[in-house]
Amino acid sequence: MTGSTTFRDDLADPRPGRGALPPVAALESDAPVLDLSGTWSFRWAPTVADAPADMPGPDTSGWGRMPVPASWVMPALDAAAGGPHGSPVYTNVRYPFPLDPPFPPDANPVGDYATVFELDEVPERAVLRFEGVEGAATVWLNGVELGTTRGSRLPTSFDASAALQEGVNRLDVRVAQFSAASYLEDQDEWWAPGIIREVTLRTRPAGGLDDVFARVSWADGVGSLLVETPVPATVEVPELGIRGSSGERFDVPAEPWSAESPRLYEAIVSTDSERVVLRVGFRSVSVDGGVLRVNGVAITLRGVNRHEHHPELGRAVPREVMDAELALMKQHNVNAIRTSHYPPHPALLDAADRLGFYVVDECDIETHGFGDVGWRRNPSDEPLWREAYLDRAARMVERDKNHPSIILWSLGNEAGTGQNLRAMTEWIHDRDPSRPVHYEGDYDCEYVDIWSRMYASHAEVAAIATRDEPALDDPELDARRRAMPFMQCEYAHAMGNGPGGLSEYDELFESSERIAGGFVWEWLEHGIRDAGGRMRYGGDFGERVHDGNFVIDGLVSADREPRPQLEDLKAVFAPVVLTVAGASLTVRSRYDVIDTSHLVFDWVIERADGVLSRGSVDVPAIPPRGSATVSLPAPAVPGSVLTVSARLASDAEWAPAGHEVAWGQESLVAAPSLPGASTSAEALEAIPAVTLDPRTGAPTSIAGIPVADWRLELWRAPIDNDFGVAWGEADGRPLEERWRAIGLDQLASRLVSIDGSSVVTRVGGAGRDELVELTCRWRPVDGGVLLDVRVQPLVDTEQEWARVGISFTLPAAFAGMRWFGLGPGQGYPDTGQGTRLGWHAAAVADLPVPHVRPQESGSRRAVREVAFTDGARRLTAEGEFAVTARPWSTEAVASATHSDELQPDGRTHVVLDLAQYGVGTAACGPGVLTDYRLTAHRIDATVRFSSTDA
Ligand code: GAL
Repeated sequence: MTGSTTFRDDLADPRPGRGALPPVAALESDAPVLDLSGTWSFRWAPTVADAPADMPGPDTSGWGRMPVPASWVMPALDAAAGGPHGSPVYTNVRYPFPLDPPFPPDANPVGDYATVFELDEVPERAVLRFEGVEGAATVWLNGVELGTTRGSRLPTSFDASAALQEGVNRLDVRVAQFSAASYLEDQDEWWAPGIIREVTLRTRPAGGLDDVFARVSWADGVGSLLVETPVPATVEVPELGIRGSSGERFDVPAEPWSAESPRLYEAIVSTDSERVVLRVGFRSVSVDGGVLRVNGVAITLRGVNRHEHHPELGRAVPREVMDAELALMKQHNVNAIRTSHYPPHPALLDAADRLGFYVVDECDIETHGFGDVGWRRNPSDEPLWREAYLDRAARMVERDKNHPSIILWSLGNEAGTGQNLRAMTEWIHDRDPSRPVHYEGDYDCEYVDIWSRMYASHAEVAAIATRDEPALDDPELDARRRAMPFMQCEYAHAMGNGPGGLSEYDELFESSERIAGGFVWEWLEHGIRDAGGRMRYGGDFGERVHDGNFVIDGLVSADREPRPQLEDLKAVFAPVVLTVAGASLTVRSRYDVIDTSHLVFDWVIERADGVLSRGSVDVPAIPPRGSATVSLPAPAVPGSVLTVSARLASDAEWAPAGHEVAWGQESLVAAPSLPGASTSAEALEAIPAVTLDPRTGAPTSIAGIPVADWRLELWRAPIDNDFGVAWGEADGRPLEERWRAIGLDQLASRLVSIDGSSVVTRVGGAGRDELVELTCRWRPVDGGVLLDVRVQPLVDTEQEWARVGISFTLPAAFAGMRWFGLGPGQGYPDTGQGTRLGWHAAAVADLPVPHVRPQESGSRRAVREVAFTDGARRLTAEGEFAVTARPWSTEAVASATHSDELQPDGRTHVVLDLAQYGVGTAACGPGVLTDYRLTAHRIDATVRFSSTDA
């Protein structure tokens, strides 16, 4: 051991790690590779001072076992690792330690790793490569220090040649969680140290290809290739008849690469001693005329931000999980990935090349927490850190330079601005002029090539689309920025129930070629499974500093289970738009590059009793951004819904033939015809179909089915967006606070009158005078009872309501729901684009969304008819409403902090919503669009209740 003092001093060094080889491309080579990943010996100390001074080479017999790769703080690993080792800590912006750069805190946990491997023969040259170590490591091989690593999500290679020995070799790695480098890694995620990516020992043949740079471009049907190597090499692309040498430029007719058509050619680069296989995609990226183009064609990025997280392993994502999630993205029409906020595992980029994604490769730099202190001493602008910034840029670009999927290099995320970021750009421009540079934090676009924003409102994007954005102070910079394409590196914060407003953003993306699209925040929730198997978030592990559930904000759960918004995203991102009108189908293509010959179209006509007819329809191949109208063999008939689907004609790697890419519908189901309000007031006794409680006026049975807890509901169990302060709004209070302030969460009711079948009650919040009158009038009809309901605010206020719902409970046995309306998933006024009209059924228990932090969810929209059944009887309600049903109350949802706390309470809770507030994205970003807000106003509705045998 070089002594714990040196280790400790090293940790405060802001410079790059020591002893590493120059960065090179991740290459597929025939040189032998030994994968050292697996289960290693592991021990832990809470601080550097507590870590034993016996490294390297201590006796590991008493140590625990730790998988490599994994984050050592993960509770699921505790049993094998011999107990917990600290805990995961989640912070968004704040550093979990004082800003005293470049010093890490004393409370700096240390993980010691050791493994052994055998070699029959010692190669002349060998490289030990770490794909990622989160934290700051010192590495010893057979007692010889090879160097240190910095930059958690970047590779580090050491020359291992001199330290290797025949027979058993011992590798020791000491990792400190925090170091000077932590100041550059303040991403919004768990602090999760460990050896998080593979470790390999790579034999390097003499005269081998330590690095390869395939420079490519494409124009007018011709692909260009120039391969740079450190030693002369042969270059072959058999499919294109290319055979020549490195350094030579080949111009050959070739198909271009794009996310829509990810055409790859195998290139073999070889010397006498080594053979490297590259998958070359010919493509050119340009910013031209203020438009982002690939191969000269304007593209629209319909993307997601993807972090690397696994609920049991932390930052290590098993290959099959990653493969499945990329397939899931493709299945949901996602065409782009921003690797927020660090270079991903290299395998992701291989898959992106192959499957077809445009990738924004982001460097491992974020210093967001300095923003909390006015960016004082921000590393981005201090010469002390320049080397580290440039080192990180080089390691990203060198590793990933051969991937056609990467169309933009991103300097990092939320690191303020400054000379070091500018220097990174200059270095990147010089090394790889073929890709524009992105960085959102350069607000004035002084050194980037594309203008990027996060969470810009629809109105701001609309102004940018027409180049009407507010001018910058500096006219030169303003002119430069005005000539740039625009993208949203983050938009539509998918936290909890939401995001709303996706469709409107997508319309803006289409409205102008200047708008290159955007990346939804974010793909994945970062829940962590605790030792008891329950999904947890920030603060659940006893962290002193944390940001709660702000890390649970994905389109899919940490287990990669789709949230309802993923289906909505799929519909909004659909590459073809299908419009059905009568017997005609119009298909509008939104592909930028390919035609639609890979799609087949079929149709189905359904009625309440099942499928009436189905068939396929020929649609000619439609050119990119073109459209066609064809006749359908049969139009919808009254009482039916016609659905046309566009499907994959043949198997793709990411979905089988028949996978539905997009759909369109026409409905000829008439609204239920309910008799208009009669003028004569029938006596209550004349209506056996409803029993009213004379003390409250509330029904106790409807159509012979017992009901309880009848009330007007104007509140919802706050969703994450309701807790957010919507950006750019005059009222600086979250909706949740506004609604609570007027008592919507605790409405009380007073019976005003029962006049025959007409019941008037007044409803209001404690201490508030914004009263609302609820009038319920019951009328008999054949086989049931009609309810005319009127909700009338009595005071003229500008107040907003979360919903206008008629809420009641049924016995728990009514546990099944069938409905005609939008489904099968949920929808709110500004979401539900992925739902379709039809006859749907679900168990009540399956209707709510199992959000990690419970919140209002599960509403089924545009419902014309809903029936609850206990197996023997069925209570049906007809009208026009949304339905929320669950085995627990709104209050129970509101007070639960984790989904496992919600237990059925012996009732089926039903809310028939006559109106609802949209969901928006105020958890981070703008609030609900005006059209989707709900201002207090009079609402009249009629509902027919009836019961039958099930
Ligand atoms: C952005 C940030 C992301 C994430 C998001 C909110 O500002 O870049 O990392 O924090 O907000 O979830």
